[in-house]
Amino acid sequence: MIDLHSFYKRRERFLEQLEGNAAIIPASSTVPHHADCDYPFRQNSDFWYLTGFDEPDAVALFLPHRPSGEQYVLFVLPKDPLIEVWNGFRAGVDGAIRDFGADVAHPVNEFPSLLSGYLEGAEGIAFRVGQYPRVEKIVLKALAQQLDMVNRSGSTAFSLIAPCPLLHQMRLYKGPEEVERLRKAARISSKAHELARNIARSGMNERQLQAVIEQCFLDQGARGPAYGSIVAGGDNACILHYTANNACLNDGEMVLIDAGCSLPDYYNGDITRTFPINGKFTGEQRALYEVVLSAQIAAIDSVSPGQHAEGVHATALRVLIEGLIDLGLLKGTVDSCIEQDAYKHLYMHRTGHWLGLDVHDVGAYRLGEFPVKLDQGMVLTVEPGIYISDRFPVPEGQPYIDERWKGIGIRIEDDVLVCNSGPDILSSDAKKSIEDIEK
Ligand code: GLY
Ligand code: MN
Ligand code: MN
Repeated sequence: MIDLHSFYKRRERFLEQLEGNAAIIPASSTVPHHADCDYPFRQNSDFWYLTGFDEPDAVALFLPHRPSGEQYVLFVLPKDPLIEVWNGFRAGVDGAIRDFGADVAHPVNEFPSLLSGYLEGAEGIAFRVGQYPRVEKIVLKALAQQLDMVNRSGSTAFSLIAPCPLLHQMRLYKGPEEVERLRKAARISSKAHELARNIARSGMNERQLQAVIEQCFLDQGARGPAYGSIVAGGDNACILHYTANNACLNDGEMVLIDAGCSLPDYYNGDITRTFPINGKFTGEQRALYEVVLSAQIAAIDSVSPGQHAEGVHATALRVLIEGLIDLGLLKGTVDSCIEQDAYKHLYMHRTGHWLGLDVHDVGAYRLGEFPVKLDQGMVLTVEPGIYISDRFPVPEGQPYIDERWKGIGIRIEDDVLVCNSGPDILSSDAKKSIEDIEK
């Protein structure tokens, strides 16, 4: 787990960057599922990143305008032995200070009455409007109070800014302690993929492979799957967000598995592997797999400081299109296919995304017209694919697709740390070469 000191250092940097603005960062709330049951609790990643506090309904204040020792305030659910019998342990006000490093803590029901006082003297309020309706009402009321008082009190807290650009820029760069957690999440996820491939047989159901994967996540100490695991046999692999996972795995078809675990401190793996269910590629499967694998390897090789995510995508795209032209599945030149979007019936998504506390992690990809350059400490997925089915119409001027290609969906996805010394593939334990996956 990430230690308290790392959270302290993050808060220190956040407070510095806020300059004179007070930040209000709410925790998540529980979400009812049915009757007396809630969905599993998932903390707000921004709140978690700064606090390491995993309880619902809390609010964190960051107050750079206050003296040191009063700059980090937590509002938390108070201790309540009766409620804790039903819903589990609460740190309470004392625990928030003792175990989570808050300078000051209060029961969360005092948030509406105390907020205004804490904001006095701040230059502005950093709060994400539109995501936390319960807290937002209180924040806007406090802001209105500041505005009402401004002539008499000289208070200046009347601008409302978004904390996300600051915080998400911090989260985009992973510290060594975060890289260690992402590496662990990728290792567990890789192990699960290896187990699934070794156990896969024709006649099994997709959900039996899902069970193997998710059993491994829990057994290895993860919280569970980071997202709905995708186990997609045959043509189901061409449905990008397929999660039904209830079809039979047929001899002669491939299965695409996109699954990654989430650790107890929320760092995630996100890995996709595709392999023949009976362990032997058909000619068409092998030809397409080679194209996707070459595209993925070229794209990973291009991950380096100074490159950008769009460049990684462009690298993968060129290799994919070249391969598809060679196989007679696309017509024209690589450039003409790109200019005319003539490949999108076969490859319709981007090649990756930032990875961290969220699977599709925060952080800008562009700043105005400029793509954000990759830099040491960023982590991204690299996940090209080819999907051949009847769902997407073939664009005018592109070749008719013979039946023998249909029902093949292939994606290969790894988690990659940007390093000055070259790409560091965190998920390299999950095998992907043809020799390694044929049995
Ligand atoms: N598993 C979600 C994604 O690959 O983006
Ligand atoms: Mn992904
Ligand atoms: Mn994925």
